Amino acid sequence: MNLAEARAALKTAKRVAVLTGAGISAESGIPTFRDAQTGHWARFRPEDLASPPAYARDPEMVWEWYAGRYREVLNAQPNEGHRLLAGLEREKGEGFFLATQNVDGLHARAGSKRLVELHGNLLSARDEKTGEIFPLAAPNALQTPPTSPNGNRMRPNVVWFGEFLPEDALEAAQNAFHTCEVALIVGTSGVVYPAAGLALEAMAEGAVVIEINPDATELTPLLTFSLREKASAGLAQLLA
Ligand SMILES: NC(=O)c1ccc[n+]([C@@H]2O[C@H](COP(=O)([O-])OP(=O)(O)OC[C@H]3O[C@@H](n4cnc5c(N)ncnc54)[C@H](O)[C@@H]3O)[C@@H](O)[C@H]2O)c1
Repeated sequence: MNLAEARAALKTAKRVAVLTGAGISAESGIPTFRDAQTGHWARFRPEDLASPPAYARDPEMVWEWYAGRYREVLNAQPNEGHRLLAGLEREKGEGFFLATQNVDGLHARAGSKRLVELHGNLLSARDEKTGEIFPLAAPNALQTPPTSPNGNRMRPNVVWFGEFLPEDALEAAQNAFHTCEVALIVGTSGVVYPAAGLALEAMAEGAVVIEINPDATELTPLLTFSLREKASAGLAQLLA
């Protein structure tokens, strides 16, 4: 398949499913998970900060790290890639579905609504007793670890190493990828579940699956077409 054919397939498709990863937020200046560990944090492996045992050992330290990432995403702005996907949703309406592995909240800020955040987000926290989710206080008022309106300690509302993805979000994504005509896989290395699974399930069901990534990934040889571009440029070319 070439770019013109990929563009035509996307234009005529009534059902479009999109999966995004850290790459789509790179142009907003948000570093990847591993790059996010600068300064003091460079001494820690992600697994030592973003896991249930790490939190059980030192909740204050884990919260300090998440509070830093929270401030960082609030200071960032959605980029053209996020905006183009919000525009595609307006065009396709109910046939559109976006699943993101990102926790930065930028898709929602760009206007995406038919969206599931498979790994949670940095802007909210979860009551450790009731499981309810509450927005975090503004950074200058944030006390860590935060307390819910119920008076219980809250944990970051993100999926940690060793944890399962929220079942309803994953199921909605699987349905969308099973039934779409075109799937876009944007800015994800595609090695970890569920990225690879969703892309391959869409392929198996006969969808046209298009990857946008400046680098080749393990998925590249398995998909219909790959655009070797940054997210914003690749989406602009596909939607032109
Ligand atoms: N912004 C965020 O919320 C954020 C940031 C870092 C990590 N994470 C978490 O870490 C995990 C990492 O997995 P992942 O696959 O999302 O990311 P990853 O870091 O494994 O892969 C990022 C991919 O993006 C590509 N990329 C880099 N710049 C790009 C650009 N401008 N446009 C398009 N693609 C670009 C890279 O080639 C790479 O394949 C995710 O589960 C996610 O929850 C989230």
